[in-house]
Amino acid sequence: MDNTIYKNRRNNLKELLPNNSVLLIPGADLQYRNADSAFPFRQDSSFYYLSGFCEPSSLIAIVNNKDGVKSIIFVPPKDKLKEIWDGHRSGPVGAVDDFLFDKAYDNLQIDKILPDILHGHKEVLYPIGKKKGFDQQVIDWTTAAGSKDRHSKSINIIDATSLIGNMRLIKDEHEINLIRKACDISAEAHIEAMKSVKDGDNEQQIESMYIHEFSKRGARYPAYNPIIAGGENACVLHYVENNQNLKSSDLLLVDAGCEYQMYAADITRTFPVSGKFSEEQLQIYKIVLDAMNAAIDSVKEGNNIMQPQEISEKVITEGLVNIGLLKGDPEELHKSGAYKDFYMHKIGHWLGLDVHDAGDYTEGDEFMTFKPGMITTIEPGIYISSKMDVDDKWKGIGVRIEDDILVTKDGNENLTKKVPSDPNEIESLMS
Ligand code: GLY
Ligand code: MN
Ligand code: MN
Repeated sequence: MDNTIYKNRRNNLKELLPNNSVLLIPGADLQYRNADSAFPFRQDSSFYYLSGFCEPSSLIAIVNNKDGVKSIIFVPPKDKLKEIWDGHRSGPVGAVDDFLFDKAYDNLQIDKILPDILHGHKEVLYPIGKKKGFDQQVIDWTTAAGSKDRHSKSINIIDATSLIGNMRLIKDEHEINLIRKACDISAEAHIEAMKSVKDGDNEQQIESMYIHEFSKRGARYPAYNPIIAGGENACVLHYVENNQNLKSSDLLLVDAGCEYQMYAADITRTFPVSGKFSEEQLQIYKIVLDAMNAAIDSVKEGNNIMQPQEISEKVITEGLVNIGLLKGDPEELHKSGAYKDFYMHKIGHWLGLDVHDAGDYTEGDEFMTFKPGMITTIEPGIYISSKMDVDDKWKGIGVRIEDDILVTKDGNENLTKKVPSDPNEIESLMS
């Protein structure tokens, strides 16, 4: 196990942390589904990013002062009986030997030891408001640290969300390789689904196929609840019931990506259950695909991150005017936001350890520009529910296409292009 990469990330904090400060990153706790049935443990992503350590209820403290950067971790203590039931614990010794922390303590000692660590520092930074109960704990530890002697200065509490998020925003080579693998696995699952879906299948059956295809390639969990939406269900943006039978006249929208070694992929494809798009389905599909391709072309170093958004809105507005679903001047309709009845979400989000990954979208008062190492999704859509006041022939058509795009030095790389989005290629794959 080489955990140097995590140690290096902790050391890199020297450049980012204020002098004489302590950064606290809380790990995740075990979550219960019901009664005493626990979900499989998933470590907090920022905690994992800085440690590679996957045991619950742990805490990292990075101390930055004149002696340099020192990393400390609090971990569950060794416990013979608990380890018989729940498996190996590294304990403080393992945390130092295997995870390369400078110092480690048993987490039952946090309240006693952490105020001593904070004492004498000017600032404590942590992600404010992210973990239930943690804000109060930090206040208590900081207060205890400040009252250690009458003459110590009060300690400022600062939000570290942007500091950690923006570190995670630029992916290193190790991360890009894992995300690439998550994308490959997810793309292969979509290809398998396109090849096998048929009239009468239940959405749940399709969901299980994705989970199986992910798992047999080494990705045991999806990165988020898959959306398997037949026909009009596609118009519910976060549809997760996944329990209806598919009809041959339906389009099937699947938004599903796996988590591979903690990293997410996020892919949406929309394909006809019958294997052949109807005329109206194809018209809508092509508008979304045009928006998608134009938006991807604009994901380039130096471009504003809102450029793909604006381009997709314009292409969709124009397309809807061309087929009569919007009436008027495309430029005016874009300005007035008329497209929002059909395309009501944003074009994408950062992708990484979390599917909606950490990292700011603005720099100062402005939206950011793209930089090499960022990964964004591009996912335009058109949704026409039967409640809309349009010709019946359009009703129940919902289309989204979503790819994962890495910003490179020379432009971008579409990490999910392996699964076709071209309608002819989809139809031939399904025939
Ligand atoms: N899969 C969730 C999203 O596309 O944002
Ligand atoms: Mn997405
Ligand atoms: Mn998605």
